[in-house]
This record gives sequence, C-alpha cells and structure tokens, in this order.
Amino acid sequence: NEEITLRPNRLQDYIGQDKVKENLAVFIKAARQRNEALDHVLLYGPPGLGKTTLANIIAVEMGAQIRATSGPAIERPGDLAAILTNLQPKDVLFIDEIHRLNRAVEEVLYPAMEDFCLDIIIGKGPSARSIRLDLPPFTLVGATTRIGNLTAPLRDRFGVISRLEYYGEESLVAIVERAAKILNIDIDKDGAREIGRRARGTPRIANRLLKRVRDYAQVQGQRIITKDLADHALNLLEVDHLGLDATDRRLLLSIIEKFGGGPVGLDTLAASISEETTTIDDVYEPYLLQLGFLQRTPRGRVATIFAYQHLGIGYNKKEDVEP
Ligand code: ADE
Repeated sequence: NEEITLRPNRLQDYIGQDKVKENLAVFIKAARQRNEALDHVLLYGPPGLGKTTLANIIAVEMGAQIRATSGPAIERPGDLAAILTNLQPKDVLFIDEIHRLNRAVEEVLYPAMEDFCLDIIIGKGPSARSIRLDLPPFTLVGATTRIGNLTAPLRDRFGVISRLEYYGEESLVAIVERAAKILNIDIDKDGAREIGRRARGTPRIANRLLKRVRDYAQVQGQRIITKDLADHALNLLEVDHLGLDATDRRLLLSIIEKFGGGPVGLDTLAASISEETTTIDDVYEPYLLQLGFLQRTPRGRVATIFAYQHLGIGYNKKEDVEP
C-alpha cells in the first residue's frame, strides 16, 4: 500500500515539525537509556499533518509494537481492557480522535495511564466487587484535531503535549520530492515547488496532489512534471494558487454574498454550503484563519479584506459592528 510506504518510519526521515521532532528525539533517547516506556504523548493540530505517522515512528524508535485504534471505536470499558491487557512492555497504544472517547471508557483510562493498572468491577449489585489488574508499562499516543474538547483530567495525564503546525513551503517541497522518488515519478524542482506551494501546508494533500498531477502528466504523454504541467493539472482540480479548493471558495463566497461579509454563525454557514459543521471547524477554517482570510468573532465568522481581494470582489468597509 502506497499510503503506508510514503510514511517515514524513522524520526530522521521525517521532514518538518522541527521543534516536535527535536523534543521527541530527546525523550525517546532518555526513555531508551533508562529502559522504560516513553511517557504518554498527546499530538494535536489540523488533519493531515502527520500525527499518525509520528505515532508509528515513536513505536519504531522505541523498538516496540503499535496498536492503533480511535476514540469512537472503543465503545465500552471492556473494549479498552481487552486492548490494554494484550500490550507488551513499551508498546504504543495509538488512539486517534481521542477527544471522542466516552466518559466510561475515559474513567478506565486514567488509572491505566497513571499507575498502569486496570480496575475491573465484577458482578452486579451488593455482591459486586472490584479487582485490580496490573498492566505492562505502555505509551499512550493520543491524537486530536481539537485539544479544547479534551477533558482536563485526560489532558493532564499526558507527559508530552505537542502541537503540529502547518508546514512551510521548503518542507513541503522536500516531502513532494521524497514521495516522487518513492513512487518513481519524474519531477523537476519548480514542479515540486508548485505542488508544495498549493498543498495548504499539509503533507497529506501534497502527496495527493502529486498523484493527481502524475495522472495528468501520464494522460498528456508528458514524462516529467514541470511547473507548467503542475499548474495546468492543479487548475483542472480547482486548486488555486494559495491551495484553496472549491469548498474553501464556496465558504468564503457564502459569507460575502449571502451574509454581507459576516459575522455569521458556524452552523448557519455550514448549512448554507451543505457541509458538516465539524468538517468546517477541523479542516477548512484553520487554514483560512492562518491565511488571514477569516476572523472568528464572538458573533460569528467574518471574511477579511484579504478574502475579498483573493476572490476579486470589491471590499466596502462596513460600519464597525458593536461587540
Ligand atoms: N510524508 C508525509 N509526511 C511526511 C513528513 N513529515 N516527512 C517525510 N515524509 C512525509
């Protein structure tokens, strides 16, 4: 599976996120020297920036196995107990979307994280009793797009909390070049730069665009991806020069044309373009905020002058809205 081979397995092959990488290298080395499990790690940030990849790398660097699951997949405390009791010392338990764990499961996770033990209740009513099971020392790697949705007691049990940032252009160009090499795709520097620049700071998108541009090149009978070719292919995909796609533009246009530039509430906005509120919140909005095209105000979302300019729409400064 290509998707898996594109992911780097070692920290030294991981491009970008230098702060996170440097810190993890230290903590992993120290844990290895003490022959202990690495402390629990929480990774947060927008989708596609490498949270799952880092979880895999942590396991490889620790010489351990990874068991991957997700918040919504663990329905009952017993599901979690089954996973925890099957771990080996120093193994990584990766829980994606950890903010979606339910309360009962979360309660089981606290003593597991803190003391590597499991409190199980056996029986019902007056004869019910609790027994305590020891667990192997393990590393929980949690990933979330929304750290604000984590409960404080869960968040507090992570020894390492790292935020992943959108990648800079140089990192994305390097990622595109690395992927092209693995996939045997001929691409020149400016071709890689064009794809990297239009990948909205996200390696997953860069790799996806690379594959689509490869398709275009192949059908056009072109052997090498140049800037020109990448430009044509990306225009066809409706990915603009800043990496905005059709949904980004629909979102901005809706604020401007249907809601007078805002403010408009997130739910109203989502309904107006028939998208899920959570998708806008997790995927679209963070990048538009980072570009400065969107502002979050107490009364809702507002399109900035930069959004108008990007879309080629005249901007009439509105009266300042009362807060
Ligand atoms: N592929 C996807 N993300 C990557 C990264 N951060 N470094 C190297 N290759 C990648």
